[in-house]
Amino acid sequence: FTNFVSAHQVSPADAMQLIDRAEGFKHGTPVPAHGPVYAANLFFENSTRTHTSFEMAERKLGLTVIPFDPSHSSVTKGETLEDTIKTLAAIGINIAVMRHPADAYYEPLLAASPTLAIVNAGDGAGQHPSQMMLDLMTIHEEFGGFTGLNIGIVGDLSHSRVAHSDAEMLTKLGANIFFSGPEKWFSPEYKQFGPYLPLAELVPKVDVLMLLRVQLERFNADESGAFSKESYHQKYGVTDALAQTMKSRAIIMHPAPVNRDVELASDLVEAPQSRIFMQMHNGVFMRMAMLEAVMHARRFGEVGAAAPAM
Ligand code: CP
Repeated sequence: FTNFVSAHQVSPADAMQLIDRAEGFKHGTPVPAHGPVYAANLFFENSTRTHTSFEMAERKLGLTVIPFDPSHSSVTKGETLEDTIKTLAAIGINIAVMRHPADAYYEPLLAASPTLAIVNAGDGAGQHPSQMMLDLMTIHEEFGGFTGLNIGIVGDLSHSRVAHSDAEMLTKLGANIFFSGPEKWFSPEYKQFGPYLPLAELVPKVDVLMLLRVQLERFNADESGAFSKESYHQKYGVTDALAQTMKSRAIIMHPAPVNRDVELASDLVEAPQSRIFMQMHNGVFMRMAMLEAVMHARRFGEVGAAAPAM
């Protein structure tokens, strides 16, 4: 992984290797020694989990984290993302972890600086590969594999980069995917991965019930006025009563932040079948494995590796 930007580039064998490495880090595998490696986290969209988790992973790996705050950067003066990346590369940053509201923002950046690796921390409604990998790790920990598992992805499909990445990768790994939520949000790109089911039919069928946040910040006024919190919860949310129909070993996942009592009844966030906080915990170890894979591919921190050509 010279860059880590999308589910498209991850094979089932890659995924299993990263899961194995992340599980190792979780259970105490020591971090190998390496020379200096510099990372910057460029978050042009708000984040709690992904930002802090990448920074924790970087520090646990022994990387030097160079602060970057978009609101105090020269992007506010009109500097392009390409020039920003070229600048950071010239200064000596090795890895840029980036989140940006534009779909596939990273495509022009991959060519902008061959010496700097891009790790995508979320692009618009495109991809969220680190969330995908930590979701895979959490499912693997629970079930020991993916083949034949029934996974329900429910909620705001039309705006969800998590749904795009997870549906694609879980299909490659042999899981069966089902979708639910407002049917108008079941956009055509999902049909290749699995069918739409009414929620009451989906919930008792699945081993993993993956809820998605209703992304009110991405709706226009017309759309967001189309339902209230309460009406969404009753029609498309997982209520306490609906959760009673889950299989006994099924788990609830959510990338978070959760709109409590909208996509999921508030008390289910901490229920025994919820793995929501375990997903966040696993995210640190998975991001360590992802960053390490990029470092290895680029030979960053390797003694005797050639200095990057400018
Ligand atoms: N799941 C996720 O991406 O959360 P943040 O937006 O808080 O990073």
